[in-house]
Amino acid sequence: MVNNILNKVGNTPIVSLPIADKSNLNVFAKLEFYNPTGSVKDRAACYIISRLLKEGTINKDTTLIESSSGNFGVALSAYAKLNGLKFVCVIDKTTLPVNEMLIRLQGAEVIRITEPDEHGGYLLNRIKKIKEIIASNDNVYWVNQYANPLNARAYYNSLGIEICLEAPRQKIDYLFMGISSGGTITGVSQRVKENYPAAKIIAVDVDGSIIFGGKSHKRFIPGIGSSMRPEILKQAVIDDVVSVNEDETINACRELLEVHNLYAGGSSGSVYAGIKKYFNKNNIDSKTNVMCVFADSGERYITTIYNDQWGEMVREYNLEREYSEAIVS
Ligand SMILES: Cc1ncc(COP(=O)(O)O)c(C=O)c1O
Repeated sequence: MVNNILNKVGNTPIVSLPIADKSNLNVFAKLEFYNPTGSVKDRAACYIISRLLKEGTINKDTTLIESSSGNFGVALSAYAKLNGLKFVCVIDKTTLPVNEMLIRLQGAEVIRITEPDEHGGYLLNRIKKIKEIIASNDNVYWVNQYANPLNARAYYNSLGIEICLEAPRQKIDYLFMGISSGGTITGVSQRVKENYPAAKIIAVDVDGSIIFGGKSHKRFIPGIGSSMRPEILKQAVIDDVVSVNEDETINACRELLEVHNLYAGGSSGSVYAGIKKYFNKNNIDSKTNVMCVFADSGERYITTIYNDQWGEMVREYNLEREYSEAIVS
C-alpha cells in the first residue's frame, strides 16, 4: 500500500520480445508506461523536484518552468502539485491534446508555442520563451531537461540500476534507447557501462532529428528526436546510433500490438524498429541479450500512430518531402 500513487515510481516490468527471424536475439523491454503518470519521465520529475527541495535550491514559493512536448510536462505537473509548487509548462502545436489536458487538469499553467523555429520544430522557440520569462520574473526555476545534470542523475539512480539488476542471466550485450532530451540515455548509459563495460549502448533517433547531425525536417511523432543537440549528452556513453523513419515507427508500433500484445507509444515503436534495423545490418552468430526501454504507452497516440488516416498523411508528407529534396539536389 502507498499513501499516494505518485510514490510508486519505478520497478517497472520487463517483458521478453522474441523476434521471428532472429533466433539468436533475446530482446527484453523495460515497460516504463507502468509508472504512475504513464511514462519514463516520472523518474526524472520525482527525483529532480525532491532533490531541489531537499538541497534548498527551490522553496515552496518557487515556480518551476519547463519546455516539454508532453510526457515530462505531464509528470512535472503531477509531482509539482504533489509538492505544492507552481508549474508553467511550455508546449507547442504538436503536443498531443490528451497531454495538454492532463497538464492543465493537474493545475499547471500552459503556454503554447505555435511559431516553428528554423528547423521546422518548436524547441528553439519554446526555449526562447522560457528565457524571456526567467528574465522578467524572480524565483522561477527552469528544470531544463536538456542540460540539467539532475535529469541524467535521476535515471542513473533508478532506471539504470533496475536494468543492471534485472538483466536476464546478468548479461547485457546491447541496450537500445530512444533519445530526445538525452537525459535517459545519459544516466542509464553511465550506470550500465559501470556494471557491464562490454555492453554496447545504441541510441535510437528519428530521421529529421539533428541530435547526431543529419538534415533537419518536420517530424510528427513526439518524444523522440530533437532540433538541437542536447548539452547533457556530453556525459553520455553511446557506442552507436540507429535512425528510423516515421513509417518504420508506425509499422513497428502496430507489430508490437499484433505480435507481442504491447500497446506502446511512438518512441517504443522507434526502438523496436531500430533493433530490427540494426541487426539486419549487423549479423550476430551467438546468443545475444538486448535490453531496451519502452518509454510510454499507445493510449496517448489513439488519434495519431494508431489512426490509419493520420499514418497516411505522414507517409504522403514524407514522400513529397523526399521527392522535392531529390529534385533540389
Ligand atoms: C515517449 C518518450 N520516449 C522517449 C523519450 C526520450 O527521453 P529523453 O528525453 O530522456 O531522451 C521521451 C522524452 O520526452 C518520451 O516522451
